[in-house]
Amino acid sequence: MIKATCFSDRHYSIGQIDDKMYSSFTEHLGRCIYSGIYEPGHPTADEDGFRTDVMELVKELGVPMIRYPGGNFVSCYDWHDGIGPKESRPKRMDYAWSSIETNEFGIDEFCKWARKVGVEPMIAVNLGTGSIKDAGDLVEYCNHPGGTYWSDLRAKNGSPEPYNIKYWCLGNEMEGSWQAGHLSAEDYTKKALEAAKIMRWVDPSIKLVACGSSYDMLPTYLEWDRVMLTDLYNEVDYLSTHNYTMNAGQGLANYIASYKQLDQHIKNSSAVIEFVKAKNHFTKDLKICLDEWNVWNFQDIKMDSLNDLAGATTFEMTSAGKWEIAPPILQEKYSLLDAVVVGGLGITLLNNADTVEIACLAQLINVIAPITTVRNGDLFRQAIYHPFHMLSKYGRGTAMKAVVDAPVYSSVYGDLKIIEPAVVYQEESNEVHLFVLNCEEKETVELNIELSGYGDLKVKRHLTLCGEDYEIRNTIEEPDNVTMKEVKTAGETCVELPPLSWNVVILG
Ligand code: AHR
Repeated sequence: MIKATCFSDRHYSIGQIDDKMYSSFTEHLGRCIYSGIYEPGHPTADEDGFRTDVMELVKELGVPMIRYPGGNFVSCYDWHDGIGPKESRPKRMDYAWSSIETNEFGIDEFCKWARKVGVEPMIAVNLGTGSIKDAGDLVEYCNHPGGTYWSDLRAKNGSPEPYNIKYWCLGNEMEGSWQAGHLSAEDYTKKALEAAKIMRWVDPSIKLVACGSSYDMLPTYLEWDRVMLTDLYNEVDYLSTHNYTMNAGQGLANYIASYKQLDQHIKNSSAVIEFVKAKNHFTKDLKICLDEWNVWNFQDIKMDSLNDLAGATTFEMTSAGKWEIAPPILQEKYSLLDAVVVGGLGITLLNNADTVEIACLAQLINVIAPITTVRNGDLFRQAIYHPFHMLSKYGRGTAMKAVVDAPVYSSVYGDLKIIEPAVVYQEESNEVHLFVLNCEEKETVELNIELSGYGDLKVKRHLTLCGEDYEIRNTIEEPDNVTMKEVKTAGETCVELPPLSWNVVILG
């Protein structure tokens, strides 16, 4: 058996983990909203048409905040279409996903649903085809107490109390040619500055997220952020970026090592923030909002390689027929291996808790999601549900530095230790929660956990995600093929990590 050691000292922390690290994302895309969140007539639907079976799982996941309504969708969305009597709401072409948007579900329904589920809404405004006035009007509709056109209309539409939405995204992926109304960095900066100004005039208490560059294959990667932040740095609170990991035939070791790619991606965004801050002698800190992250294997996209994505529009690429209502697109079926990789990405988030304040798993229901529903039927937890649930449940507190003594494996990101840990300290319970990936494909690793300064903590529980068949998936018929398994603890300060596994170890 291979031996390794993980050291952590109570005096060396990375930073406080913000609860918003476990946020998620719901877009008007495929079946995320329609027959995901909202399905009037479903046996579990409540008086508003919200599926209560879905609400229960969202609560179980402990998601604190949900981004809405997109995504690419938002860049061709007019929020006015989604308010008022449902029978008079227009059906529109959604250019982003070549679907028909019925507008039965809009901002009022989303805020009502969010309240019922106990999550905070995070709203993206349309800076593609939308105007800066539309953005200001939406803040007024949501947050102004009353006595103005839009706030009184909200009251008339059933919500006299303002929604007081705090977090607002200034557009989505505006650097991409796939975005309706895509802009250059210079043009985005001008538009976002003016939108931010108006939105803050309406409600000075809001927090704003600037659209950073997302995909490292784009020629504007990071340069977009530098140009944009030079003028927007002091006007916003967060820099957004997105990161999707793909199992694209790069080999098992490289796929498992995706945590390193995400780490580099986050550090790249941090580096631009620090550069702009230093060059312009700015003083405040800007945090990262990773408002889309996940494994996305593009099972539903017609392409030969990742390079096909650059310059393509989503319209051309999904398998959906054109102009369907809520077509079943982007419904990824996640494997055990994908779940182990998602767990690894979560470890990276924790180890970057000093710079990443918000992270949204993209998405939440049916579309590249941990929860899958059947129309008029049941639902099940995808394999990736489990690591995200564990992170959300046990990953709150202080992220601590961890050092590992272990053999290395080689990957496209260089030689990496076979053990990748994240250590979380929960002061109230005086517990240490260790999340740890065993990247060794064939062998069990005996991991000694050497903690200092925490008191006399011992291994109380060990849960693992591993198996014989890494291609196995959960289905509606077999919903528990992939779950966390309880492992017999190997010693007071020692655990045995199965080959190719993602683990949660509780020490108390
Ligand atoms: O989450 C799916 C899509 O991925 C979003 O609409 C877009 O922002 C990103 O490219």
